[in-house]
Amino acid sequence: MLRVGMLTSGGDCQALNAAMRGVAKSLFNQCSEVEIYGFTDGYKGLIYGEYRLLKNDDFSGILNIGGTILGSSRMPFKYIGVPLEDGSDKIERMIDTYKKLYLDCLVVLGGNGSHKTANLLREKGLNVLTLPKTIDNDLAETEISFGFQSAVDIATNAIDCIHTTAASHSRVFIVELMGHKTGWLTLHAGIAGGADIILIPEIPYSIEAISQAIAKRTASGKRFTIIAAAEGAISKEEAAMSKKELKLLRKQENYASTAYRIGAAIEEKTGQEVRVTVPGHVQRGGQPVAYDRVLATRLGVRAAELILNHEYGYMVGVKDNKIVKISLCDVAGKTKMVDPGNELITQARQLGICLGE
Ligand code: F6P
Repeated sequence: MLRVGMLTSGGDCQALNAAMRGVAKSLFNQCSEVEIYGFTDGYKGLIYGEYRLLKNDDFSGILNIGGTILGSSRMPFKYIGVPLEDGSDKIERMIDTYKKLYLDCLVVLGGNGSHKTANLLREKGLNVLTLPKTIDNDLAETEISFGFQSAVDIATNAIDCIHTTAASHSRVFIVELMGHKTGWLTLHAGIAGGADIILIPEIPYSIEAISQAIAKRTASGKRFTIIAAAEGAISKEEAAMSKKELKLLRKQENYASTAYRIGAAIEEKTGQEVRVTVPGHVQRGGQPVAYDRVLATRLGVRAAELILNHEYGYMVGVKDNKIVKISLCDVAGKTKMVDPGNELITQARQLGICLGE
């Protein structure tokens, strides 16, 4: 009997169900004796022993459904060192559950934090495989994660919708997109949506440069400007601050969102009317696009293949558009940032898009 545990951890995204379906259907199809245990709400279910035995039928009809049939949570990475109410250690509790169920392997679908935890479990001797999920596309060693393209489509649609109203009213619009640490989503949606200014965390902006870009558009007869700003976009002055100083500043600003802060500064500097749109979690919701369904399925089927070959300690990812296995220790603890010299950034500059510099 092959016994596989599965959990979805961290912020959800589209195509989590498609990926789990890929693993499960592939296993049920190729192995006559398999049990799949689905843990509730990510690692929390593994810690507290909350799970259900999943049948082949549980994976039917979920390919095109967003969210996760298992539920997710951000527990435990942020508080990994903090013991549970009864004083026990979270990692030890996870290992206990794994052993009590006689699991052969644990499949974790998650982003950066989830990979750190998965790697800790691997170091403690558990057989772990992971699948890269995140709308941020910031997992190291894989070209793409599922969820990203679906979020790019939604964010692009938001910018598309803003275009007509921006043109009618001669306003500056700022669309704030998800991505606290990295700007992949904003960069791609900004290019796809035809944004005039794109602000990402990796390239600190100056209000002066943004104001000049707006003035240039106005002088050339353009009636509006659209800015795609990542929620983690940061000014040059803020980038020079220490973490403590920045924390204090954010408190003084009453934790106003990035787009509102930038909008107020632009209004003050240019006198132009600014409007802000924040699509927020809409970007993580709804159905996965076809690209993500195919990608998640390919990754899931490959994970099943690794399980059947007893190959563990890997994230299944994408390199040169091929599905490959990547050692978990090469992924955990790293973030894939947008390189300010990358091709898309260079092309954005060539197109005349202002990156806030
Ligand atoms: O990591 C995915 C993500 O959607 C980020 O882009 C965003 O900053 C964050 O999660 C939001 O997290 P939460 O759902 O916990 O508010």
